[in-house]
Amino acid sequence: MNAELPELPYQYNALENSISEQVMEWHHDTHHAGYVDGVNSAEEGLSEQREAGDFSDTASLLTSFTHNYAGHVLHTLFWNNMSPDGGGEASGELRDKIEEDFGSYENWRQEFEQAAKSASGWALLVYIPREDELHNVPVDDHDEGAVWGAHPVLSLDVWEHSYYHDYGPARGDFIDNFFEVVDWSHCEQVFDRVSG
Ligand SMILES: [Fe+2]
Repeated sequence: MNAELPELPYQYNALENSISEQVMEWHHDTHHAGYVDGVNSAEEGLSEQREAGDFSDTASLLTSFTHNYAGHVLHTLFWNNMSPDGGGEASGELRDKIEEDFGSYENWRQEFEQAAKSASGWALLVYIPREDELHNVPVDDHDEGAVWGAHPVLSLDVWEHSYYHDYGPARGDFIDNFFEVVDWSHCEQVFDRVSG
């Protein structure tokens, strides 16, 4: 595997009303890039250990891969599930499924916000194919609390590097403003793909 840092699908200042240009730059160019580098160096180390038949550092390399790859996957979704043309509410089949599984859209959103306020990492809306069900999942770090077999449809990064420079401790304001830039059309595309 050779992980690559994806380009942002918009300019650094495109989400300025919700996330500052400075935070977007740091977050993408330093933090996400660091996870990509972490994936590749863990892969390199594992490859070297396999070739040498020396597995003395394997456990730490495997843990490093999991941490960094989970970060890479979730950041990639995060960038793509926001847009300067975002906001509003889910529609189409995703909207119908949210209403079916959570009782109402408002119920879903309140539950998601609780996940986002409590997590030490991420809040995710995931689809679990084997149950044909959506769930909100709070994740610590990038992977603690992950649900096996679930596909993230919407991700919100609530690590402090994601909002503290712009909002200080007012994480709730960041969450409110995140919803102003959610690209529901992207979420609907992901949902269509993983539920089809
Ligand atoms: Fe992040």
